[in-house]
Amino acid sequence: MKVPPEIQRRVAELREEINTHNYYYYVLAEPRIPDAEFDRLMRELQALERQYPQLVTPDSPTQRVGAAPVEAFGTVRHEIPMLSLENAFSEADVRDFHRRVCERLSVNHVDYAAEPKLDGLAVSLRYEDGVLVQGATRGDGYTGEDITRNVRTIHTIPLRLRGRAYPRVLEVRGEVYMPLSGFRALNRTQVEQGEKPFVNPRNAAAGSLRQLDPRITAQRPLSIFCYGVGVVEGFRLPGRHYEVLLQLREWGLRIPEHLEVVRDAEGCLAYYRAMASRRDALDYEIDGVVYKVDRLALQARLGHVARAPRWAVAHKFPAQEELTRVLDIDVQVGRTGALTPVARLEPVFVGGVTVTNATLHNEDEIRRKDVRVGDTVIVRRAGDVIPEVVAVVKERRPPGTRPFHMPKRCPACGSEVVRAEGEAIARCSGGLFCPAQRKEAIKHFASRRAMDIEGLGDKLVDQLVEKGLVKDVADLYELDEATLAGLERMGEKSAANLKAAIEKSKHTTLARFLYALGIREVGEATAQTLAGHFGTLEKLMSADEAALQAVPDVGPVVAAHILAFFRQRHNRDVIRRLRRLGVHWEEAASLPREDLPLAGKTFVLTGTLSSMTRDEAKARLQALGARVSGSVSRRTDCVVAGADPGSKYDKARELGVEIIDESRFLALLARHGQA
Ligand code: IVH
Repeated sequence: MKVPPEIQRRVAELREEINTHNYYYYVLAEPRIPDAEFDRLMRELQALERQYPQLVTPDSPTQRVGAAPVEAFGTVRHEIPMLSLENAFSEADVRDFHRRVCERLSVNHVDYAAEPKLDGLAVSLRYEDGVLVQGATRGDGYTGEDITRNVRTIHTIPLRLRGRAYPRVLEVRGEVYMPLSGFRALNRTQVEQGEKPFVNPRNAAAGSLRQLDPRITAQRPLSIFCYGVGVVEGFRLPGRHYEVLLQLREWGLRIPEHLEVVRDAEGCLAYYRAMASRRDALDYEIDGVVYKVDRLALQARLGHVARAPRWAVAHKFPAQEELTRVLDIDVQVGRTGALTPVARLEPVFVGGVTVTNATLHNEDEIRRKDVRVGDTVIVRRAGDVIPEVVAVVKERRPPGTRPFHMPKRCPACGSEVVRAEGEAIARCSGGLFCPAQRKEAIKHFASRRAMDIEGLGDKLVDQLVEKGLVKDVADLYELDEATLAGLERMGEKSAANLKAAIEKSKHTTLARFLYALGIREVGEATAQTLAGHFGTLEKLMSADEAALQAVPDVGPVVAAHILAFFRQRHNRDVIRRLRRLGVHWEEAASLPREDLPLAGKTFVLTGTLSSMTRDEAKARLQALGARVSGSVSRRTDCVVAGADPGSKYDKARELGVEIIDESRFLALLARHGQA
């Protein structure tokens, strides 16, 4: 079919426009149009190319994906070898490097182009007449693998150079890497699909780029920074490395961020420090910085030795990953009762500090990585993150090691360890008693929405626990004024006030008391529901799993935590002591559901309440026997309208359903003892 000229024009126009927007988006990171608009341009081009297949060219932006897999990669000879870099590990090494450069050139000062050293894979991209014709890995520096089909799937690599004035042949060199955000997302998917996660972004990038099936590469979040050139024919490049990179950017190639020209060793070192402090904020890994003599003429005079140029050096950051041995595996109990396995390690210098412990996160992680005492492992410490064991070097496993199992009892207090279904974290169930959880348990118990002990702030709790005056929440009720007055920042007056507040808190409600116990997953709303449903603490404590699950909003996880909590003798002892010391509440005999005051009534909540969340309001209504529905209908008995009510309010008015505001709602709750 003959292609009408206006179609040819439109196709050219679309390609130009799409390429331009790709450039704004990927290279300059300044998108100019919304994604949806971009997608429309792309779809229009795809449709025209489908209609007129003879218009499809390899550099069309539609041609990134879809190439068929290959049996093996072909080889590519690098006309100009891809050299590696000499390393510097200290300031002295950098000064030595600079001194050697000055001596060889007989100069006193040198300008360097300073760049981040990206932790990915070196690649070479060949453009002929502006069109990407070949992509290759570095290989041994002289021959690499032909990965053209794979690099074509990377969106930050242009299939065609921008503008008109470019070399007939341009070989660009750069580093393909995987952004950290993409790496994390990829690993989440890997785990979800039962695949092994990648150990680090570098391995993930390498594994993705060297796929025989480019369709897999296309699904991986790869990107590139270009840091140099190889063969260039038919163009006079500028005289400085820095300017060459700016020229590459003009052609649509992505160059490293934070490029700078610095002077002498001192300028290099200042750059190194600046990049070190910036490192954690970057969305990609860098393992150091690179200094390159900026003037190309000087580079040529310096030449290279063996495999590295004399005009550049990589100044490395301390390694973030090292090998060491696992001496033991301990289990730590956190302040909320979470059990975390921790590897005790043979001391190793990694990420700039000596590391002796590394977290193993949780039971599933240990099992997945199969970390055992005696293993040689890769430890990683990146930035301020706590060191972690990344993987086991299985080849170095000594004979006779055994798989690790989580303990059945809390190492801090001996209470049962519970791991609720579907949760990764195993927890100690001795909340009221466990020394590891003491401070948190007491702070929560005293908090405003729990027992509401006014004046007992976090600092005071810390003091009381640290001085050994309070071991569990019952001890609070045995403190005398003299002891309180002896605490730091406490006078007699405030001691008397605190004592009075402690006394006052003894009179409470069952719902508050249940919430104050700090049972996992039992928040205020659930505590309300439980109190309303069972009426007495005894009934709740003797409820079995079926009885608990019969309560609205109580599922298997909540039930498991409640059962485990009350199964611990220590917890029961503390509760008994609390009651003996005078903690009490109005006992509301539990009513059969149909006798509850709001039984058979349907409520709908809309708008924002200032005194409680919607979940709490719902729980309180349910505790009184009401049904709480999400939408208004003729069967609705009452709509509770907070601030800024939505369409439910209008609907209720339309249907003539009763509407009450927050103050009337609170009055209703108070009437039925749910305030
Ligand atoms: S320049 C002749 N610049 O580091 C100069 N390399 O250890 C050759 N790398 O194979 C390389 N970031 O993969 C240069 N800004 C950067 C770099 C960089 C990372 C890698 C590259 C190279 C290796 C050498």
